[in-house]
Amino acid sequence: MSVARKIIIDTDPGQDDAVAILLALASPQDINLLGITAVAGNVHLDLTSKNARIICELAGRPDIAIFNGCDRPMGRDLVTAEHVHGKSGLDGPILPDPEMPVQDQHAVDFIIDTLRAHDSNSVTLCPLGPLTNIAMAFEKAPDIMGKVQEVVLMGGAYFEVGNMTPAAEFNIYVDPQAAKIVFRSGVPITVMPLDVTHKALVTKERNDAFRALGTNVGTAVAQMTDFFERFDKEKYGSPGAPLHDPCVIAYLLQPELFSGRHINVEIETQSELTMGMTVADWWGVTDRAPNATFMGDLDADGFFSLLTERLGRL
Ligand code: RIB
Ligand code: CA
Repeated sequence: MSVARKIIIDTDPGQDDAVAILLALASPQDINLLGITAVAGNVHLDLTSKNARIICELAGRPDIAIFNGCDRPMGRDLVTAEHVHGKSGLDGPILPDPEMPVQDQHAVDFIIDTLRAHDSNSVTLCPLGPLTNIAMAFEKAPDIMGKVQEVVLMGGAYFEVGNMTPAAEFNIYVDPQAAKIVFRSGVPITVMPLDVTHKALVTKERNDAFRALGTNVGTAVAQMTDFFERFDKEKYGSPGAPLHDPCVIAYLLQPELFSGRHINVEIETQSELTMGMTVADWWGVTDRAPNATFMGDLDADGFFSLLTERLGRL
């Protein structure tokens, strides 16, 4: 029996973040969720924090420690994505306002204190939104980087190019300076870019399977993806919503679902034209040292059978 992996989820819920949090909470034998840190991204911090609590209560886990983090990027104005996620950030299901508390400690200090309290290479950070909290923690306490087992993040794009600009994916675009700090930190990084997450599409059959669970969680997830798919259907003509963030948690549970390359990835932070682009050296044309495992493919059917089975446990 392997020991459950210790993780911190850093998130900007967001319907897809919500499904990622539910997948983690449905897998306590594999994942020891030390806490959830909220960051500004899809919507403002007050809403990402509220949505994280709504999701924990939906999963029957009001005990989860939730921390508020940075309410804006490190060096730019906040750009949000209500056009994708709706005004609340969690449009779709009607869910009750949360009663569980937010912790008093700032998310950045929670990340620092938690890593300092654990052994080397023992805590996995799972950023699902802009990397502001993670970068601030690394800047404030560089000693904690040796405690990080792996950063498994959703962000970036190469073959899929950008979803916010022709060059940049949202999470990296919102805080490119933070992303640069994380990608240059030297900690082991695994990236779930749009190249992979655009293959995790909630087709009608897959959404029907969520609904067929007949549970509050299954119904809420189906209603979230019914809302969340509009943007991608309109823009890409996709057959359904891309479940970006759950790819991060699915990787922790069944890494064999994913394939990619260990390559160099740099972040554009100078040019406004390509700001936030993940410059992924997929073909090894530079002598820049590899710093990230950049995923390129996914077993989508395997992903959805894992996700649906686990959601059915809540
Ligand atoms: O570009 C997709 C990413 O941006 C996802 O994490 C989504 O939740 C938004 O944060
Ligand atoms: Ca997100």
